[in-house]
Amino acid sequence: MTSDIQTAAATCADYIRQAQNIVLLSGAGLSTAAGIPDFRGPHGLYTKARIKNPELIFDLDVFDEDPAPFYEFHREFLKMLDRLEPTYAHRFFAALEKEGKLKAVITQNIDSLHHRAGSQTVYEIHGGIWNTFCRGCGMKYDHDKATELTLADESKIPVCESCGGVLKPDIVFFGEPVKFLMESQDVIRQSDLLFVVGSSLTVTPAAMLPNLARGRIVVINKGPTSPYFLPPSRIDLFVDSYIDDFIALVDKHLDLLED
Ligand code: OAD
Repeated sequence: MTSDIQTAAATCADYIRQAQNIVLLSGAGLSTAAGIPDFRGPHGLYTKARIKNPELIFDLDVFDEDPAPFYEFHREFLKMLDRLEPTYAHRFFAALEKEGKLKAVITQNIDSLHHRAGSQTVYEIHGGIWNTFCRGCGMKYDHDKATELTLADESKIPVCESCGGVLKPDIVFFGEPVKFLMESQDVIRQSDLLFVVGSSLTVTPAAMLPNLARGRIVVINKGPTSPYFLPPSRIDLFVDSYIDDFIALVDKHLDLLED
């Protein structure tokens, strides 16, 4: 169901008032307002990439053969990271958790903006940049050390100080299992209101999670989401809008954030 945005915001606020067990599944679209491009939106990394199969940047076999294309992307991402601030919507969902309404954030994003907005229970199912591991000996590097090694000499791939193996951040690549799958399935099954925000719902198993919900489902996304894993008939409210714009309208009814 698509409806006028003001009406949709009032409906969404009512859903929140009635809910006790809210869960958020977020995707790259939640962070575009912070300045990070998404993957498949009009300005997305994959949409704009001139290479044939841009998803191969995050393919484990390709990485093990030649990590350079990944590191080209990753260095830009690391340089951008410190400048980033959580968006209005990140802060709104953190405030909903503080109110006791929201029980968990499940995110496909690796930018740590949910944590920085103050969210406590965050399942980063595609991993994150907190840890980096050596592909050779498994030695662990924290974010600061890994960043130092990665940015020290941009003409070189960062390698392990112990064995010389290639370093790989703990981001889930295609070919690796996602993290926190059981936990994510559990919290979604228990939810009475699930928000799916800023995701094209094309990458499994994340895209399969919303259909496990037994309560209401609200999708906020500019443009359509894939109907393959979440049929439109399962969605109680589909809002085709910029996330921050819509969340600001919702918060006019709830007054959780100051600005
Ligand atoms: P996508 O790029 O596939 O989808 C993002 C969606 O958000 C698109 O439909 C955009 O139109 C929408 N969007 C962008 N900015 C928005 C805004 N400000 N307001 C509303 N909607 C907006 O991103 P994901 O679904 O998160 O995986 O992608 C899933 C996975 O694909 C990623 O985690 C990544 C990638 O390959 C790995 O790297 C393993």
